[in-house]
Amino acid sequence: MVDITEKEMDNPTFKSDTVLSDVHLHCPNKRRLMVRLNAVGQPVFLSYFTLLWNTEDLASEKHKREATTEREYQYRSGDELCDEDRNNLKERELNSEVEALLDDDGDLEVVRRPRSASDLEAEDLLRDRVCPVILMKGEEDAFEDKQKCTCSDAVKIEHTMATPLEDVGKQVWRAAFLLADYIVFKRDAFRCCSVLELGGGTGITSIIMGTVAKRVYCTDVGEDLLAMCEQNVALNKHLMELGRGEVKVKELDWLKDEFCTDPEAPYNWSEEEIADLHDHCTVIMAADVFYDDDLTDALFRTLYRITHNLRNSCTVYLALEKRLNFTLRHMDVTCEAYSHFRSALNDLENLQDSKIKYTAEPIKVDFCQALIYERIEQLELWKITAEQLT
Ligand SMILES: C[S@@+](CC[C@H](N)C(=O)[O-])C[C@H]1O[C@@H](n2cnc3c(N)ncnc32)[C@H](O)[C@@H]1O
Repeated sequence: MVDITEKEMDNPTFKSDTVLSDVHLHCPNKRRLMVRLNAVGQPVFLSYFTLLWNTEDLASEKHKREATTEREYQYRSGDELCDEDRNNLKERELNSEVEALLDDDGDLEVVRRPRSASDLEAEDLLRDRVCPVILMKGEEDAFEDKQKCTCSDAVKIEHTMATPLEDVGKQVWRAAFLLADYIVFKRDAFRCCSVLELGGGTGITSIIMGTVAKRVYCTDVGEDLLAMCEQNVALNKHLMELGRGEVKVKELDWLKDEFCTDPEAPYNWSEEEIADLHDHCTVIMAADVFYDDDLTDALFRTLYRITHNLRNSCTVYLALEKRLNFTLRHMDVTCEAYSHFRSALNDLENLQDSKIKYTAEPIKVDFCQALIYERIEQLELWKITAEQLT
C-alpha cells in the first residue's frame, strides 16, 4: 500500500474546489474505512450500503420509518413529515414560540445574542469541515458498517469522498440510489434484459441491475474511474451470481461518435460486444448526468445514435437531482442544468424521425426505498420510450 503521510490522513478530502456528494455527507462523523490511494493520489473509501431486498425488509423499514416519523413528530424534527403534518406542527411550534417571546403586556420581546468573532470562526469551520473518522487497513474491526451488513444485504462500494468536478463519477450520487430503488421495485420487468448504463460512475446502479438483468454494460470515461468501477463489480460478484447476471465495464465517451475498439485501451469493446449490445439491448439508464449543458447535449446525441442502431425498441430511464442555485444574473433561484435537460428532452420528443418515435414521461417517485438515503423532492425519474417505427 502507498505510504500516506499523517497530514494527508488528517485532511484527506475536503478542499474548496472540490464537490462532495450528499450521500457521503450524510453522517459527518461516521467511521470511514480508507482502503488505498488511487492512481491519482485520491483516498479511496469502502462503504457498505444496506439493501432492503424483500418485502419483509421493505415492510419493516416502512414500519421503522413510520415509527421514526411518529417519534420525530413528538420530538419536533419535521424532516420526514408529510406537508400537512409539517405545516400543523410548524404552526403549533410557532404559536408556542411566539407565546414564549411575549412580555406581560403581550409585546414581542426580541432577544439578540451578540455574535463574537470566535462564534463566526467556529461556524465557518463547521461549514467547511466535515470530519469523518478515517480508519486505515488493519482497523476494519472498528468499521461499524461491516458489522451491520451480511454479504447479500449490502452492496460494497469503493469511492472517493470529494473530488474536482471532472472526477465526480468517483462518488455515489443520490440519483443513482433512486434509480437503484426503481430497479429493485420493478425487478421483474428487468429480469434477463440486456442493459446499457451511461455515466455509471462507481457502478452501483449497474451492480443492482446486474442482480436481475442478464447483462449490463456499465460505461463511463477515464481509466482510473473505470478501474474503480470494475473493482466494485468484483466486490459484489456474489450478488449478481444469484441471478446469473454479469456487468461488463466499458469505455463510452458521449463526446465521441464511436465505441472505443482500440485494442490498447483497457476498457475497449470487441466487435462481438458491440453486436451483442445492438442486437439485445432493450434498456438504457443513466443517473445524475445532467450538470453541464455541453455534456447534456452530448449525452442526448449518444442516446439518439445508440437507439438508432438497436435492433429493438428500447426504454431509457434517467434519474436526476434538480439542483437549485441562486444566481446574480437572474436574481432568483434557478435550475439551469435542469432547464437545459428539459429542453433537450423536449427536442428529442419533437424530432421528426421516420425510424424512431421518442415519448417521455416522468415516473412518480413514490415507490419503496431499497437503499437508505434521503429521498428529497428534487429527485426525478424519467422514462423515455424509443419505439422503432420500421
Ligand atoms: C455525477 S456523476 C454520476 C455517476 C453515477 N451515475 C452516480 O449517479 O453515482 C456523472 C458521471 O458522468 C460521467 N461523464 C461525464 N462526462 C462524460 C462523457 N463525456 N462520457 C461519458 N461519461 C461521462 C462522469 O464520469 C460521471 O461518472
